[in-house]
Amino acid sequence: MKRSSSMTRRAALGGIGGALAGSSLLDAQQDPFRDHSRVPGMDELTSVMDFEAIAFAKMQGDSFQYMAHGGEGEFTLRRNREAYDWVELVPKGVVDVSSVQTATEILGTPMAFPIMTSPTSGHIQLHRDAEAGTYKGSQAASNTPYIVSDGSSLPKAKIAAAASSPLWFQLYPIKDMDAMKAWAENVQTLGGKAVVMTVDQQAAYYERDFHEQHLISARPTRPVVAPGGSGNATSGPRAYRVPERRLWYNWKYAEQVKAMLKIPLFAKGILTAEDAKLCIEHGFDGVYVSNHGGRSCDYVPSTLEVLPEIVDAVQGRVPVLFDSGIRSGSDILKALALGAKAVCIGRGARWGLAAYGAPGVTRIHEILQGELVMAMAQTGRPTLASIDRTLVRTNFR
Ligand SMILES: Cc1cc2nc3c(=O)[nH]c(=O)nc-3n(C[C@H](O)[C@H](O)[C@H](O)COP(=O)(O)O)c2cc1C
Repeated sequence: MKRSSSMTRRAALGGIGGALAGSSLLDAQQDPFRDHSRVPGMDELTSVMDFEAIAFAKMQGDSFQYMAHGGEGEFTLRRNREAYDWVELVPKGVVDVSSVQTATEILGTPMAFPIMTSPTSGHIQLHRDAEAGTYKGSQAASNTPYIVSDGSSLPKAKIAAAASSPLWFQLYPIKDMDAMKAWAENVQTLGGKAVVMTVDQQAAYYERDFHEQHLISARPTRPVVAPGGSGNATSGPRAYRVPERRLWYNWKYAEQVKAMLKIPLFAKGILTAEDAKLCIEHGFDGVYVSNHGGRSCDYVPSTLEVLPEIVDAVQGRVPVLFDSGIRSGSDILKALALGAKAVCIGRGARWGLAAYGAPGVTRIHEILQGELVMAMAQTGRPTLASIDRTLVRTNFR
């Protein structure tokens, strides 16, 4: 039978052309302003800072600002970063660096590298796996210890079930001593290897949020003194912008918490030699030098600047942990040279999780580990023991 068609070739082509003419595909090709952007693959990123842009692209605006902002006008946030530029490395020559050793141990927690993941709250804003993803990502990066924030999105038990590398827990002091005791029992049952108590007041007043609220923030933010003077209180949490639950604790309380724990207790937020000595006097097993990444009291110094005086005051009696502003292996090397036993990574790990989930956290750590090894080799310091103050020249200003 003869194949019959009512459509000629010319008519068929005309039909396709007509369909394309009305198609958004053609529009897109002809539109010079079409958005050709794409999210780069993780392997295309080479430094920790690269991840911030990907996190920015993937996150909701106000969640990103919550992570990025610093206290008040952000002097300390900026200074944390500037301080690394004020420390020069002084390399040693004629040193065999064919093998570099980075393994260490802090009060019973072994580490392949002197790098941990800082406690930061609310990882559900970053990725659906939340803190379980951060924990898995840290573990995959050479069993890196992870410090779980007291403000985690997931319940502590759920995080602890996600992986099996060393887990530490951060604590915001709990006034009710029965509740405090239950907290201490819980984290020890979950296999916690140490507790990190945040001991400063952690004021939380962010001018950046106030300026940006019209554009992106769903949260109402108000200046300390509202126009017309209505916010002009002189006492209490409302005036200080310090959460009420953080205004009351003292050294005696710290001793009581210590008595509830069989695992080491660190004090996080230490910025002076005097406070470091008091920590040891009152039973803390370690000191954690931190200004919480510039998110707390503005105009406190950068952590790198105060690290040497704290290390001198401690005199090796307890380990000194360190964070705030670390973005590269040479930053880590400088902190180790000034006396930190290990460093912790806050925003960097968050950028990794927001950008690529658990593998992103792993990659952040791998980049820092690789850069640390490179910096140690380049400066002729093949072991952690060979890293000391002769490695740096400080020009703090
Ligand atoms: C979004 C965010 C949330 C944080 N939440 C906590 C917290 O719950 N507890 C705490 O002790 N520190 C918290 N921190 C401070 C970190 O533990 C850490 O000190 C800081 O991020 C280190 O600075 P970096 O971000 O420059 O690495 C938080 C930091 C960020 C960025």
